[in-house]
Formats: sequence, C-alpha cells, structure tokens
Amino acid sequence: MNGFYGIIAKKRENMQKGLFITFEGADGCGKTTQLNLLKEYLLSKGYDVVLTREPGGKGLGEKIREILLNYDGEVSNRCESFLFLADRAQNIDVIVKPAINNGKIVLCDRHTDSSVAYQGYGRGLDITEIDMLNNLATGGIKPDLTLVFDVDIETSMKRVGDEKDRMESSGIEFFNRVRNGYLELAKKEPHRIKVIDSTRKIEQVHSDVTDIINKYL
Ligand code: TYD
Repeated sequence: MNGFYGIIAKKRENMQKGLFITFEGADGCGKTTQLNLLKEYLLSKGYDVVLTREPGGKGLGEKIREILLNYDGEVSNRCESFLFLADRAQNIDVIVKPAINNGKIVLCDRHTDSSVAYQGYGRGLDITEIDMLNNLATGGIKPDLTLVFDVDIETSMKRVGDEKDRMESSGIEFFNRVRNGYLELAKKEPHRIKVIDSTRKIEQVHSDVTDIINKYL
C-alpha cells in the first residue's frame, strides 16, 4: 500500500472490460466516505476493485498532491491547472487504464470534472480550454459514471473544519461557484453525471449510490 492506492484482489468472472467511476463534489461533501462504503459493497459482491484519487493515487501523483495542497508560496491559476493535469495523466496511465483493461472496477476520488468545477468555474479559467486539456491528459478515456455529492457550502465548510489546506482556503464565494459548476456539468451530461443530495445521513446517501451502481453492474 502506497498512498491512497490499493488493489483489492477478488475474482470477477464474466467481465470483459472494467468500469471507471468517479466521485466528485466540493470539499467536505462526503464523497470519500461514500467511496469507501461503495468499495466494501462491491467487494462483498465479489468484484475486483481498484481505488485511486486525484491529485494523488500513488508514487509521483502523491508528490504532486503534496505541492498542490500544501505549497505556501505563490501558485498561478494556470500553473495549478497544469499540475492537476500532469497528475491526471499519471493516474490514467499508471493506475486507471491498466485496471479497466483488466476488467476491474476503478473508483476514482475526483477526476476531470474537478478541473472544470474548480479551475474553470472556481478560478475563472476558460472551460473550453480545460475540456481540451483534460482530453489530452486522459488520452480520451472517460468515466462510465460520475457521482456528484451535492451539499450547501455552509455544511461542507463546517465538515472541513478549521484546518484548511491551500485549496480549502479559497473562500465561500469560490466554493459556491464550484458547486454551481458541478450542477451545470450534470445538466449538460445527465447520462454520465448523477447528482446525489449529500446533506442526508450517510446510510441514505449510500443507498442512493448502490441503487445507481446496480444499474451499471
Ligand atoms: P481532495 O482529495 O478532495 O482533498 P480532501 O478530500 O483531502 O479535502 O481534493 C484535493 C483538492 O484539490 C480539493 O480542494 C479539490 C482540488 N482539485 C482541483 O482544484 N482541481 C482538480 O482537478 C482536482 C483533481 C482537485
């Protein structure tokens, strides 16, 4: 085990190609808790599951994560964007692609929609350019399904608490733009992106997640 990355080896028979599922939402939305619950659920059903996250995953990705979340000097918006994209290329090439080619279910904590929501809607960079750069970083691989965990920003900031990292210190207005960005994205791609009301109890949210996932299995 290195960083957040872990292969949980269980045999999944009759599966030709894996599934790529991404978890999205503003900081403090509860997506990581839900990702772990879904992992347990899928394992209990005998599926092969691979976990990863952006920024991060393992190795170099975790080093890039450290810079993105903790560097305390000046970081330009474009530089920030490219660091997320570099990490994404590494995550796709080293973790996601090999896993889905081997028929595994990949659960990825944040992916391309984070760049659109945070660097596009949040920081104000051009969304068409971000789409193009995302496409370069992923080599065209797209999530089969994206779950957006939606909470009001007051709730999410309460959940984050007082110890904020560099991104979490971006302010309420920034996070309102991020949240609206996700909701806009979901309107544009309703087949891929499902919005889940994440202000509710963990078990209720998990139940919605499994209802959605079961349609893809
Ligand atoms: P996250 O892993 O959610 O941090 P944590 O769960 O530990 O709070 O995400 C790291 C931060 O990076 C988060 O604030 C969102 C941000 N981010 C972007 O701004 N753009 C991106 O493309 C990605 C992947 C993350």
